[in-house]
Amino acid sequence: MARSHHCAELNLKHIGSSISLSGWVDTVRDLGGILFVDLRDRRGITQVKFDPNLDKAIAEKASHLKQESVISVQGKVTKRPEGTENSNLPTGQVEIEATNLEILNISDTPPFPLDDAGGDKVNEDLRLTYRYLDLRRPKMRRNLLARHKATKSIRDYFDSQEFIEVETPALFKSTPEGAREYLVPSRIHPGSFYALSQSPQQFKQILMVAGVERYFQIARCFRDEDLRADRQMEFTQVDVEASFVEREDIYNLFEGMLKKLWKDVLNQDIQTPFLRLPFVDAMNRFGVDKPDMRFGLELVDLTETFKASSFKVFQGVATTGGSIKAFNAKGLADLTQGELKALEDIAKSLGAKGLAFIKVEGGEWKSPIVKFFSDAEKAEITRTLALQEGDMVFFAAASWDKACAILGRIRLEAAALLQKRGKLTIRHEDWKFLWVVDFPLMTLDEEAKRFVATHHPFTSPVPEDAGLLDSAPHKVRGQHYDVVLNGMELGGGSIRIHNPELQKKVFEDVLKIPADVVENRFGYMLKAFTYGAPPHGGIAFGLDRMVALLCGTTSIRDVIAFPKTQKGQDLMAGSPTPVTEKQLKDLHITTVIPT
Ligand code: AMO
Ligand code: AMP
Repeated sequence: MARSHHCAELNLKHIGSSISLSGWVDTVRDLGGILFVDLRDRRGITQVKFDPNLDKAIAEKASHLKQESVISVQGKVTKRPEGTENSNLPTGQVEIEATNLEILNISDTPPFPLDDAGGDKVNEDLRLTYRYLDLRRPKMRRNLLARHKATKSIRDYFDSQEFIEVETPALFKSTPEGAREYLVPSRIHPGSFYALSQSPQQFKQILMVAGVERYFQIARCFRDEDLRADRQMEFTQVDVEASFVEREDIYNLFEGMLKKLWKDVLNQDIQTPFLRLPFVDAMNRFGVDKPDMRFGLELVDLTETFKASSFKVFQGVATTGGSIKAFNAKGLADLTQGELKALEDIAKSLGAKGLAFIKVEGGEWKSPIVKFFSDAEKAEITRTLALQEGDMVFFAAASWDKACAILGRIRLEAAALLQKRGKLTIRHEDWKFLWVVDFPLMTLDEEAKRFVATHHPFTSPVPEDAGLLDSAPHKVRGQHYDVVLNGMELGGGSIRIHNPELQKKVFEDVLKIPADVVENRFGYMLKAFTYGAPPHGGIAFGLDRMVALLCGTTSIRDVIAFPKTQKGQDLMAGSPTPVTEKQLKDLHITTVIPT
């Protein structure tokens, strides 16, 4: 039976037509011997009626139908009797009187309900084991469709801007500078390995040397990281590189991409240009380099205030190069003991010695530390934090970056608690995009006692800071930029180094990578740069993260057809698995399983 229509199509205009539909049995209801089947395909639902008074044989056949069975139906479109219409369905004015039924496949009873609400309640492992059923749920189908629309929008945009899509290898060379890699043993080169590409970074720069000028790729990347809601071992980047561009060109280009993307997928207009926030300001005000700017609760610095304090904990930190940061969790004085304890535990897990606080209740400051504060200190706290009845202030005293990181996290927790109490509204669709800029080019690795690239070693220094590379590398800002949306890092990139001498200097003199190692790992790039490398720069966006935000979900697993679990497993097909001795032998591998 060929399909004449899909299941979201039929309405009053079709009354009297003979049609045929195919799909899955969504529900079966038996009303006094008359069977009503909601037939579902990927477009929607149509009600089919099997009435023994009209056709006994077909009604008998239909009585064997089970949910999720696959059928084809022929019949006539009729108007539903008055009072039985369903205004929630586009096809809710009509039903099909079945004249023929073909059962294509009977389904076993699904292990969980396939409607949105029912499916959301079940354990995710069960959904992932039966992903083919999970993907039948309307929400998951919408997510797949949104992802398709997003990639189409992005491809169309770059095409219109004269970028070309070039595929780069997944099997690359090991470059241990970045994230932990997946290694792939070579059969024909015993003892040698490929690494799965962490990102097309080096190839896209080489494409610039090759004169491609404007490259993009929707690229699969592999990183052996601990998995989280916003991280998968295998994920997709919208990866871009262009020649003869400066930072401003990149900002304009990607604001354009995001504007089109939000219009195409959500039909929403986002405001451009985005705010540009220097890294230091992001840390000082929000305690993170990916601030959620949908709400305030901004951090303040009280280091100066406490330099002569008789509260020794703060005074000690303030006078030995550390910072005292605080913020007012406005209206959170009704925090329970349990909630406070949980916040303290979080602060401690980030290396805090404690989480000092002031509660303003009944006109009084309730706090274990307030007895140490002078009147001048109290006045300064009241002024800088605009303290009022019902407020709750948290303090962190530590090194600058640690104090920022601790309160940055507590700020997010406090916002969630305020939202739970109805004292703060954070809307998912309040899109607060920004560029975070002026990151330090290098970060000191305390353990290794050497500088490491804050992002990657190819980032070009900000021109006015380049003179500091030898004398004060930690003061050099990089031409790096991140796009942040509502607390999530969507993407990051930079203007690159295109001068081979400068690139060599960064590797050897600043990052202190031995010359032979540089030659071994990056020699081919340095050589390529001696044959006319144009100035270039680019960016990569996390496609999974963008689509998750567009779909209103916090987990990228919801927008990946076949994601891995937090433990890196595919529960449906069952990977990873051991392999045979023969396979290992062919690959010149022996394994040692820890006991
Ligand atoms: P970066 O490492 O910042 O930059 O990656 C770019 C973006 O990719 C996304 N992302 C991830 N998404 C899901 N799971 C992961 N494990 C994961 N890791 C990263 C993030 C991130 O912002 N080559 C550079 C870019 C450049 O300089 O052009 C790079 O890979 O959204
Ligand atoms: P203590 O004098 O160590 O008992 O600390 C008094 C209060 O200050 C307690 O509430 C601690 O949680 C808090 N506290 C101690 N050290 C710090 C710190 N480095 N930053 C913020 N609060 C702290």
